[in-house]
Amino acid sequence: MPAFNLNVRNDGIAIITFDLPEEKVNKLTTPAMEELDRVLDEAAAKKGIKALVFSSGKDGNFIVGADIAEIRDIRDPKKGEEIARKGQSILAKLEALPFPTVAAIHGPCMGGGLELALACWRRVISNDQRTMLALPEVKLGISPGFGGTQRLPRLVGLMNALDMILTGKSIYAKKARRIGLADEVVYKEILLESAVKAARKDIGKKRPQTIRARRPLIIRLMEGNPFTRSIVFRMAKKTVLKETRGNYPAPLAALDAVRTGLGRGRKAGYRKEARFLGELAVTAISKNLVSIYYLNEALKKDVAPSPARIANAGVLGAGVMGGGIAQLFAEKGIFVRMKDIKTTFISTGLKAAANVFKKRAKKGILDPLQARDGFDRITGTLDYSGFGQADMVVEAVVENMDVKKAVVAEFENASKESAIFASNTSSLSITELATASQRPGKVVGMHFFNPVDKMPLVEIVRGEKTSDETAAAIASLSRRLGKLPVTVNDGPGFLVNRILMPYLGEAVKMLEEGRRIGEIDEELLDFGMPMGAFILLDEIGIDVAHKVADILYQGLGERAKPSSTLGSLHEEGYLGKKNGKGFYRYKGRARKGPDESVYAKIVKVSGQNRGNQDIIDRTVLLMVKEAALCLEETIIERADYLDGALIFGIGFPPFRGGLLRYADDRGIKDIVEKLEGFAKKYGERFAPPKSLIEMAGSGKGFYS
Ligand SMILES: NC(=O)c1ccc[n+]([C@@H]2O[C@H](COP(=O)([O-])OP(=O)(O)OC[C@H]3O[C@@H](n4cnc5c(N)ncnc54)[C@H](O)[C@@H]3O)[C@@H](O)[C@H]2O)c1
Repeated sequence: MPAFNLNVRNDGIAIITFDLPEEKVNKLTTPAMEELDRVLDEAAAKKGIKALVFSSGKDGNFIVGADIAEIRDIRDPKKGEEIARKGQSILAKLEALPFPTVAAIHGPCMGGGLELALACWRRVISNDQRTMLALPEVKLGISPGFGGTQRLPRLVGLMNALDMILTGKSIYAKKARRIGLADEVVYKEILLESAVKAARKDIGKKRPQTIRARRPLIIRLMEGNPFTRSIVFRMAKKTVLKETRGNYPAPLAALDAVRTGLGRGRKAGYRKEARFLGELAVTAISKNLVSIYYLNEALKKDVAPSPARIANAGVLGAGVMGGGIAQLFAEKGIFVRMKDIKTTFISTGLKAAANVFKKRAKKGILDPLQARDGFDRITGTLDYSGFGQADMVVEAVVENMDVKKAVVAEFENASKESAIFASNTSSLSITELATASQRPGKVVGMHFFNPVDKMPLVEIVRGEKTSDETAAAIASLSRRLGKLPVTVNDGPGFLVNRILMPYLGEAVKMLEEGRRIGEIDEELLDFGMPMGAFILLDEIGIDVAHKVADILYQGLGERAKPSSTLGSLHEEGYLGKKNGKGFYRYKGRARKGPDESVYAKIVKVSGQNRGNQDIIDRTVLLMVKEAALCLEETIIERADYLDGALIFGIGFPPFRGGLLRYADDRGIKDIVEKLEGFAKKYGERFAPPKSLIEMAGSGKGFYS
């Protein structure tokens, strides 16, 4: 079965349709690229072709990019370079065709797919939500290899191109049009017809050469002049280093390839691009990032289909989480009734939801009509009117067991028998919550992370009586909402917060020993954490963190005993970012430097300032210990899923491949010795658990 079909119409317009056999999506595998090579030769040789449209035969998918399995299997940099050189030469053929070429894009157009589209004269794209364009290679630890670093800056301008190449982010229709990446945006129903029309218009003309982005004069001047351009490169490098802390080499390599191409010409640029792809593909960082890609896919697939149909939902509590959850449900077509205890709270929740819709419309992820329709699906109430129709409810009221239990009973009085009660609690026991229920099988944890629209993970928490059907229905609903569900068993803090809290607690303990806020956070940021411990505590809220730490202490005992600093800061009115008073100072929403006044409030302990070297080991190895205990207690069964939960829930540094992969890389024996040493020096909380000691003895790891 061929992957490419070349059809020349009577009017001389050729259509190449890409439809990779036996695959749901189009990928540029090596055999597919070889076939494309032949098809392009055929098109070049055929008489009578006046223009060509490149389209996809897949429903809702243009091309997702190169075959990641091939990238995973590259062990020799020369091999990677060779793949890139070959791809470059095939796309150069497409670029050199003697007639106009137009890519008709509907659905994801990523990596090699976008590089192919860039080799065409024009790109006509659909305004569908699924249509997104990106060069996401850096997310896999590599740089683009099929000419993306050379063609993109020449099409959309240097700054627009760097914004895409260095971050890997997706661009939606509206922005694609604005920056000149797309020539036209149309409804998907008329995509092919519009692409043919665009191709026909170009017949007899020269390939459009100029940068098509509408850019302010100052930017055009800056990018056009070699001296000012070098300032742009310097600034971009600085930003990359600031954001990656030097942990990710791929964006720097891509930057170098772009710079070479613009400074020394395309040929030199292509050569560098290919060489970098080879060199990067074999790094441990790239292999880790690729393994996370596969982990993400595995988690998505590991969700059993559920017959439960959820068309109407309730959300209890219109606070930080409730507003976000309501928005998410409504965007995905579910009608939401949001209940709180005061009208002002309802309006705050509605406003929060409206803001997310606005943001997503601005980015072009939703069109304005979809955003309005979505928002219209949310209604507010102070009582349970309308809850009789709800197929499920998400409870996001204050973190208090008595309040939550009362709410379970109230909801059950107002709802139908089959309705599911899902709690968004961060730490309270689902099993205990279910004791307030007449139908405990229908009670489950559905733990979203903040902010709901950005964080991919949902922890599905099974209480002792949660039924299989209920857990499956909520996992499947999470997928429908575009989230990544990880199912865990009930226990204090479930999985993610249970592992996160010792890390935060240890940072506070080091503060008490005389270390500085900035010093600790900088070390953690250098390690690759997305936020320092104190930045994160301020984000979570010192009051909330204090409460969760207490719940963990009650559940896990002495080793989880929090230091008194969180409590005393809370009492003194330090709540974190929400009231602008935390470990850091705030001006509006912007974080300024550490708040020096904190040092006077912390509860000092003896043994002041013990140097920097233990900051990472004390915080991260405590997480490893807690993770090992979670596996021992079967809170979760798979080490890779545990790693996934931490990466997608709290942003554990992806380039390290996950907490437990990091532990394996360091060596379990070394970790056990470190923990034993710390246990003597800092206290029993570091004592290594049984499973770690056994692993160290047998030379095994979490993955082996
Ligand atoms: N904020 C986070 O980062 C985060 C993350 C994950 C989970 N959670 C959990 O989500 C839940 C809510 O947290 P939040 O940060 O949104 O809190 P919040 O204080 O912002 O909102 C809670 C809302 O619940 C309302 N409420 C209280 N009693 C109610 C009742 N009987 N009926 C209806 N509404 C009622 C309050 O008026 C308030 O508007 C908590 O269980 C929390 O642990 C929070």
